[in-house]
Formats: sequence, structure tokens, C-alpha cells
Amino acid sequence: MAKETGKTHVVVTGAAGFIGSHLCERLVAEGHRVTGLDSFNRFYSPAVKRRNLAGLLAGARFRLVRGDIRDAAALDQAIGRGADALIHLAAMAGVRPSMERPALYQSINVEGTVQVLEAARRRGIRHVVFGSSSSVYGDASRVPFREDDPAVQPISVYAATKRAGELLCHTYASAYGLPITMLRFFTVYGPRQRPDLAIHKFARLMLRGEPIPFFGDGSMQRDFTYVDDIVAGVLAALRRPAGLRLFNLGSDRPVRLDELIRALEQALGLSARLARRPVPVGDVSRTWADLTRARQELGYAPRTRLEDGLARFVRWLRAEGRGRGS
Ligand SMILES: NC(=O)c1ccc[n+]([C@@H]2O[C@H](COP(=O)([O-])OP(=O)(O)OC[C@H]3O[C@@H](n4cnc5c(N)ncnc54)[C@H](O)[C@@H]3O)[C@@H](O)[C@H]2O)c1
Repeated sequence: MAKETGKTHVVVTGAAGFIGSHLCERLVAEGHRVTGLDSFNRFYSPAVKRRNLAGLLAGARFRLVRGDIRDAAALDQAIGRGADALIHLAAMAGVRPSMERPALYQSINVEGTVQVLEAARRRGIRHVVFGSSSSVYGDASRVPFREDDPAVQPISVYAATKRAGELLCHTYASAYGLPITMLRFFTVYGPRQRPDLAIHKFARLMLRGEPIPFFGDGSMQRDFTYVDDIVAGVLAALRRPAGLRLFNLGSDRPVRLDELIRALEQALGLSARLARRPVPVGDVSRTWADLTRARQELGYAPRTRLEDGLARFVRWLRAEGRGRGS
């Protein structure tokens, strides 16, 4: 990253969320000064997000600004006297809910991203990292997905808004010479995972003895990626600003839904009851990251096997349950 001293100021939008809180912890541990900007929206419990930040707020190198990325004043407050880099993770995430609230997704993910890019340009930020998604590939027939595949046929509102965010990054990089790195994350899991995502949702249902939704014939595949591997990829990208760049950050190990359920049964020591459901509108049939570019240019090397990552997730989930007395 920018300075030899390592004393950089990094602004992270969406800092109180799942990926954002892990990323901020790692940045602080590496000696950076971090400002997190988050609206604590109600997509899931704001109390969970406050807990995500508890450790960070106890330290001196983390500052929290509570505000909305669509508010230029909140962005200016977060950037303060200046920042070396801005990592933009704030978003309405989730494929299925985006089909129910398309205008809200558009507002936060597209208009919000414009505000973030405007603030970065206005305040002379040296490097913007944008958290995009594997969903932009749509139901592509060629796997694994490569960064130079077209990605022009998103099948969910969420995917379309993420792709729109990437296109805006393109505009700001080419019009203003703003260095931007776009990272397409592939289904991230681990402690603090969003409660709407499959592993978290399924595990909670299984612990309560309730059936889990089993979509289609179970052949749907996801390239599940452990959060520490994603964070390592973001940090590697942050260290090397260079024009406009795009990388997949995945695990290159797609897992079928039926395999995932077997692995979760093992991790929890429980068997799952299944409730068969049609594949939801907007869900792609598979994701699979080609990591050639990320390996070559970032030295990205995901290390966590699904069994190990699930074991860590389950340890966290059980501790959460004990902590809340449930
Ligand atoms: N988790 C995944 O599997 C995954 C996969 C691909 C891409 N992504 C992307 O990574 C990023 C982080 O995802 P996550 O899973 O940690 O989600 P998350 O919902 O846990 O975190 C997002 C955070 O952004 C905040 N936020 C939402 N709208 C805001 C606004 N208008 N202003 C300020 N803050 C706002 C939320 O309060 C939340 O804390 C998102 O951009 C998401 O689209 C996630």
C-alpha cells in the first residue's frame, strides 16, 4: 500500500457487516488506522453488527462513523483529513431479497456507489477497492468463471446492481485516473456469516430440529470461500494499486448443495431433515472461480478446506448461542 511507514488510514464502508468486521480487524492488526462507515441497517439485526465491532471499538486504531453511503456528509466525515484507501463493502447483499425490494437495492448499491466514488475523487483517495460478486456472471455456461468473460446477463436485481457498480468504477478510473480494484467474492462463509446465507440459515434450522430447504435436485453448486481467505485477498489487492483491475476471489472448489448438507451434518453431528423446494428465481445454478489472475498478480492462495471452515463456523455459532442464552 501507499506509504513506507505502514501508517495508513483506510476507510471501510460496511465495516459492521460480516466481511467488513473481519477485514477491519485484520487491517488494525497490521498497524493501519481504520475508519468504518456503516448505517447499521435492518437487513439483519443491528445488535449483531454492534457485536461484530465490539473488539474493534475497544482499540485505539479504529473509529466508527454511523451513517449512510448515500450521504456525502457522512462520507466526508469518514474520510476526515484524508485517507490512503477506501474499501467499499456497504451494500444490500443477498440475491433473493433483491427480487422483493429492487428499488432499495438500486438505491444503495448503485446510487450509493456513485456517492462513494464521488467522495473518493473529491477527496483525492489513492486507491478504491470495490467488493463485487460472483453473481455478475449470471447463469454462465462456461466454467470456471474468468474475469474476461462477458458478465452481461445478470439474472437477479442484486447481480445487476453489482455489475452496475463495476461499470461505474470503470467510468471513474478512466475519467479521473482513480486507481480502482474490483474484487468478485464467491459465496463467503465463516464466523459472523450473514444469517440469510445458506450455511448459517441451514445450521440454525438443524440445531432447532427444523427442516432445511433443499432446492431442486441438490445439484446447484457454490464455490464457498472462507472469510479469512477473502480478507487475505482484499489485503493483497490493497497493497498493489494499479489502474483499474478486476479479480475473482473464490476457492476454486465448487460444492454441490447435497454435499454441503452432508458436510454440515458432519460439522454439527446432526442429521438434516429436508424440505424440497423449487430453485428460487434469481439463483444461478453454479459458481466456480477461475483464480489464475488472482494467483498470478496478487499471490492469492485460498487455504481453508470446507471441513475446516465449517468446523470454525460451528464453534462460533455454538458460542453465540451460549452467549445469548439460547
Ligand atoms: N457474503 C458473501 O457471500 C458475499 C459474496 C459476494 C459479494 N459480497 C459483497 O460483500 C460486501 C459485504 O457483504 P457481507 O456479506 O459482509 O454483508 P453484510 O450485510 O454483513 O454487510 C454489509 C454492511 O453494509 C451496511 N450497509 C448497508 N447499506 C448501507 C448504507 N446505505 N450505508 C452504509 N452502510 C450500509 C450494513 O449495515 C452492513 O453492516 C457486500 O458488498 C456484498 O454485496 C458478499
